[in-house]
Amino acid sequence: MPYRFDQIIDRSQSHSTKWEKYAGRDILPFWVADMDFAAPEFILEPLRERLEHPMLGYTERPASLSEAFRSWLAHHFRWQVPTEWLVWLPGVVPGINMAVRTLAADSRLLIPTPIYYPFLGLAENAGLDHRLVPLQLSDGVWKMDMDAMAQAVDARVRMVCIANPQNPTGRVYSLKELEALAEFIERHDLILVSDEIHCSLVLDPKVQHLPIASAVPDIAERTISLFAATKTYNIPALGCAVAVIPNAELRKRFIGTRADLVASPGPLAYIASEAAFNDRSSWVPELIVQLRKNLAELRQVAGHRMSHLEATYLAWLDIRDLQLNDVSGHFESHGLGLSNGAQFGCEGFVRFNFAAPPDLLAQGLERLSRALEKK
Ligand SMILES: Cc1ncc(COP(=O)(O)O)c(C=O)c1O
Repeated sequence: MPYRFDQIIDRSQSHSTKWEKYAGRDILPFWVADMDFAAPEFILEPLRERLEHPMLGYTERPASLSEAFRSWLAHHFRWQVPTEWLVWLPGVVPGINMAVRTLAADSRLLIPTPIYYPFLGLAENAGLDHRLVPLQLSDGVWKMDMDAMAQAVDARVRMVCIANPQNPTGRVYSLKELEALAEFIERHDLILVSDEIHCSLVLDPKVQHLPIASAVPDIAERTISLFAATKTYNIPALGCAVAVIPNAELRKRFIGTRADLVASPGPLAYIASEAAFNDRSSWVPELIVQLRKNLAELRQVAGHRMSHLEATYLAWLDIRDLQLNDVSGHFESHGLGLSNGAQFGCEGFVRFNFAAPPDLLAQGLERLSRALEKK
């Protein structure tokens, strides 16, 4: 059965974060990374079934969840991991915050930017320090700048934190880039945190996502890789993520940071993520077809402003020439709720979430076209 990506579903009664922000105003939301597509029935059905049972008590994580994840990772990325490497979490963001807490008190992080904004708060949350290293924009492609990384590293730097696929630029780091990064990690005796939550959303047919710990096994022992099904299946409210940590000592330190502060996912989250990791249907391929069509529509309007996008449903648009004092206000005045690039550590850009049914996207693009004309 083909999946439906063309229906506009009213989210006004669902306390949707994306839509509530502009409730009562004629502003269409294309900001937070949440798709305006219904989650598939093969996830909703087992949730309904579970709710037939009236008890929602404390729940053990089913062993079948780890099995589903391991087989998903092996199937899609040919990475075989033993169960003991896995640490289940209520989200990737708690996971990256736990990862930095494995470090000693005077440690410093290196973070290539722009990046998903919670990365920018990691050091401060843990009482540490960070150095932000801008990605290099060359011919519309954002790349890690290894020379700048080498200049930024010092004896206090203990960890590099990346997102791959990259949010907000939509890059998927190539094997060559991952090898260069791995060599850097090893040379400076660092730990690498790799957030791979968008790994199933590769839109460019010429590109393949490579989990760094498996693509460059020499540094696997230095890695904390994070995965979740929540982006791909549009179930971010059912927070559930998993850290893959091959090194036993690092894993122990990681688990130690949990300190009764980070709860376990609940039964509904387990059920939804297990159904997602077990999915081998046409959901992801069909979603990708829709996202590619949407991307082509967006390109018609945003054209030269768009960075080269390989993955995710988040486009990164260059608006530097508009010289806006109030970026959010400008787009809102044209009826659009976008994410301001400053939030990701890069002014003069906006992020546009194009995971919307075609008719809704068309309305947004009409508004975007006018907003980008501004002088
Ligand atoms: C790169 C990246 N990491 C993590 C998250 C959020 O993860 P979680 O909801 O599991 O904390 C997002 C959400 O947009 C993201 O884009």
